[in-house]
Amino acid sequence: MSSYKEIKKITTHQLQEFKNSGRKITMLTAYDYSMAKIIDKAGIDVILVGDSAANVMAGYESTLPITLDEMIFYASNVVRGVKRALVVVDLPFGTYQSNSKLALASAIRIMKETGAEVVKIEGGSESKDQIKRILSAGIPVMGHLGLIPQSIHRFGTYVVRAQEENEAQKLIEDAHLLQELGCCAIVIEKVPAVLAKKIATELTVPIIGIGAGNVDGQVLVSYDMLGLTQEFSPRFLRRYCNLDKIITDAVANYITDIRNNDFPNEDEQY
Ligand code: KIV
Repeated sequence: MSSYKEIKKITTHQLQEFKNSGRKITMLTAYDYSMAKIIDKAGIDVILVGDSAANVMAGYESTLPITLDEMIFYASNVVRGVKRALVVVDLPFGTYQSNSKLALASAIRIMKETGAEVVKIEGGSESKDQIKRILSAGIPVMGHLGLIPQSIHRFGTYVVRAQEENEAQKLIEDAHLLQELGCCAIVIEKVPAVLAKKIATELTVPIIGIGAGNVDGQVLVSYDMLGLTQEFSPRFLRRYCNLDKIITDAVANYITDIRNNDFPNEDEQY
């Protein structure tokens, strides 16, 4: 068995091989060195430095306020902690929508300044020129369709998307477009499971779901699945532990030990 140090980086080509062979793709977010190191060591395929950092790291209501400089800071910390996983970084709101030149400049900054391997962009036909231009510079792009959080003020709600026929049709067309453009994978967020399944079956590009049923892979926000966030409980979220409680109990014990003159003891001093 090879040791953790010898393990080779996951590539975008491997994501395609995983889909071709029916092996599910696993993906989680991370925003800092220490958490990225643990998640990578546990064997995840893809680490997403999501703009959900705006919510879980910075406490904003939406993902809109986070800047490119902040994403670069988070992403470069993550990259230093990762040996195996493919690292994908979100292009934040306002850094690609206006035109393809801006999109390429933002993607180049991410690639040069963080060492990540892929950028992720929200939107289908609206983002076509931007995705084309970034791909033409040799930068892999992951798409993101369905409930795209940077458009939350257009949607006005976080309810399941593409429940109506016209939106479902656009989603299908957008997914085909992203595959034709050459995206290495597509995240589909919060849409009916049958629709996402249909897209994953029709397309050869890997479809990674979040609240989109059982497709080629799954992504969750690590802080949510580890129970660090408590206020967010959508149906699609499975909590694998309750770090909020574990940390709260640990801090309470620390406070008690100090107040009781139990910490530090004889062995914990010089
Ligand atoms: O920013 C993020 O964490 C994401 C995932 C929810 C897919 O885009």
